[in-house]
Amino acid sequence: MDGNEGDYLRQRAVAVRQAVYGRDVFIRGLIEFTNFCRNNCYYCGIRRDNRHAARYRLTEEEILGCCREGYRLGFRTFVLQGGEDEYFTDEKMCRIIRSIRSNHPDCAITLSIGEKEAASYKRYFDAGADRYLLRHETANEAHYRRLHPEEMSLRRRKECLYALKEIGYQVGAGFMTGSPGQTVDTLYEDLQFLRELEPHMVGIGPFIPQRDTPFGGEPGGTAAMTVTLLSIIRLLLPRVLLPATTALGTIDAIGREKGLMAGANVVMPNLSPKEVRKKYALYDAKICTGEEAAECIECLKKRVRSAGYTVVCDRGDYR
Ligand code: SAM
Ligand code: FES
Repeated sequence: MDGNEGDYLRQRAVAVRQAVYGRDVFIRGLIEFTNFCRNNCYYCGIRRDNRHAARYRLTEEEILGCCREGYRLGFRTFVLQGGEDEYFTDEKMCRIIRSIRSNHPDCAITLSIGEKEAASYKRYFDAGADRYLLRHETANEAHYRRLHPEEMSLRRRKECLYALKEIGYQVGAGFMTGSPGQTVDTLYEDLQFLRELEPHMVGIGPFIPQRDTPFGGEPGGTAAMTVTLLSIIRLLLPRVLLPATTALGTIDAIGREKGLMAGANVVMPNLSPKEVRKKYALYDAKICTGEEAAECIECLKKRVRSAGYTVVCDRGDYR
């Protein structure tokens, strides 16, 4: 694709986003509440076999404290993200969800805690969770095998996504750009799958190697490729909620601004306590690990303004 085609694609994507969401950018407060994980995805810094990962879990009180602080700062969506940590049983998760729901009835609660039984998803939903992020990672079988050990399967991942939709969640799928083994053909399958699933959200960020993983020596994805895919996905799913991710901001100092100017309309500042941020090291050199939540949100608001958009403090539901 030459420069003119890239510009044209971006302009089209921005026009579509403008027609649906105007100049609004939605903020989601990300709470990375555990980095214990039973899975062993080859790309991921908190995979089970990474002996160098310093493991942590937030207490229920700490999670609720993050939400309190987030609410004060203007967040109306909380995203609870973590590895697949069996310590957080369904009972514990439901108790946490119910507490957040009762403390902040006007907020959306998003979960991103991996693959569960449909019955568990239903329990979280009934406890008050509204949205669920579960990237499909790749829609191509052979590529899925390249990224994950034998015990995981694309079929199961897809089943989870359909189950979540069926229950009534706003659902987010997505993938990394430039992951090892990704080709134009696998990307084509990703887009086909997104068109079929019609998720409410799509998380797209570059793959960034993490030194203690099997993919530590692989090349990472690029900002240019990520931004192009953001535009394509905006055109494919005009109403989609599309974050300009921290990973994009990590490989390019103004990556998130570029994402917003290519069709993205969500940013996800970190609300996790400062002490644990560095430990949620999915990839190397992750940004925003040294700041307080209040500093993060101020910095992001400035970035959003510099891209010509406005941060809005509401739930930012799918339209
Ligand atoms: N355990 C949950 C799950 O599997 O959906 C949520 C946590 S998981 C760490 C969140 C996302 O981080 C994954 O879906 C993956 O796309 C992304 N991720 C993991 N390792 C990464 C890396 N090295 N570079 C960029 N993104 C990465
Ligand atoms: Fe479980 Fe990455 S391997 S969160």
